Amino acid sequence: MAKYQIAVLPGDGIGPEVMDQANRVLDAVCSKFDIQLERTVYPVGGYAIDHHGEALPESTLKGCEQADAILFGSIGGPKWDSLPLDKRPERAALLTLRSHFDLFSNLRPAKIYEGLAHLSPLRVDIAQSGVDVLVVRELTSGIYFGQPKGLEGEGEEQYAFDTMRYSKREIRRIAISAFDAAMKRGKKVTSVDKANVLVCSRLWREVVEEVAKDYTEVTLEHIYIDNATMQLLCDPAQFDVMLCSNLFGDIISDECAMLTGSMGLLPSASINGDGFGMYEPAGGSAPDIAGKGIANPIAQILSASMMLRYSLGEEAAADAIDAAVMKTLSDGVLTGELMPKEQRDKACTTEQVGTYLIQQIS
Ligand code: NAD
Ligand code: IPM
Ligand code: MN
Repeated sequence: MAKYQIAVLPGDGIGPEVMDQANRVLDAVCSKFDIQLERTVYPVGGYAIDHHGEALPESTLKGCEQADAILFGSIGGPKWDSLPLDKRPERAALLTLRSHFDLFSNLRPAKIYEGLAHLSPLRVDIAQSGVDVLVVRELTSGIYFGQPKGLEGEGEEQYAFDTMRYSKREIRRIAISAFDAAMKRGKKVTSVDKANVLVCSRLWREVVEEVAKDYTEVTLEHIYIDNATMQLLCDPAQFDVMLCSNLFGDIISDECAMLTGSMGLLPSASINGDGFGMYEPAGGSAPDIAGKGIANPIAQILSASMMLRYSLGEEAAADAIDAAVMKTLSDGVLTGELMPKEQRDKACTTEQVGTYLIQQIS
């Protein structure tokens, strides 16, 4: 029996609620496919600040280091928003984990499945034209991590600065991720940048062009970020793999999530050069709905599926989860945010979606 160690970091807000359902689904596929997933839960984020004095306790980091993969919920919320930036859950836990494990390649797949175009807020003909986008987002560099950053001066002359910085090596490795992914999909890469303004984007284009020479079967297009956000709304079918720097990929992936119907549908894999990964929904802790039992658990469940596929090589188990998600959605077993407001009295809870989904597996 295949045996793995997983570090489970539920975090804040809806994190623990949706993680419960992902764990139930993992239990179901593990017993069906004879997989042993030893899961250890560790504190992270605001919860860890409240109970252990810091967002990423040493024991959590050690637990992640010893694991075969990390399953992450979400972190942050209004309670911790006034902390200094470097103590907040977002930087002290999430960005630190990404950087510590060198998880430079962030894969965020967004797809409107057949028969599910009605879940999309897009006009029906556009939604039906086929949305199947993989955002490949650079995750450990760019303006998130570039130095210096700071605040200097006083009064009206006070100023703040962040540094957007990319080395050729950093651009090359994420471009290779995107082209490799495109070879297994629609063989098209659209590289998103702001090369009409930013020096970083000029270098980005140059390196992406170089990498493209090794992938003659893949079509490469470049697009400016502002145009990309609007093209996604009027002609999303033109995109296959969207290659993005850290900040642009953050923004574009929320838009892609919503094209499919909800922030709660978009999973993600953050992977390093050795195949080690952290798996987390692209959305956040959703403080506006936390504690109500109504969050959509699917992004977390699909993140668990990506973990099985990418870090553990358990393809059959991952396929079973993906198929169960599809069946659940097409059977209309939906959380409220996927429904028109006037029908939300018929919405399912987080747990009901989890239960239905598990029935499709066993
Ligand atoms: P958010 O993604 O938490 O929420 C945006 C909107 O999407 C909200 O209306 C929310 O209700 C909805 N939403 C998100 N996930 C959902 C789900 N599973 N089911 C149904 N609806 C869902 O973004 P925000 O409100 O800007 O951020 C809230 C907090 O989360 C902030 O502290 C932010 O820094 C943090 N955050 C964390 C992560 C992470 O841990 N990976 C990611 C993004 C934001
Ligand atoms: C995401 C989130 C994070 C990011 C935040 C919480 C730091 O928005 O994973 O998309 O910006 O990367
Ligand atoms: Mn984001």
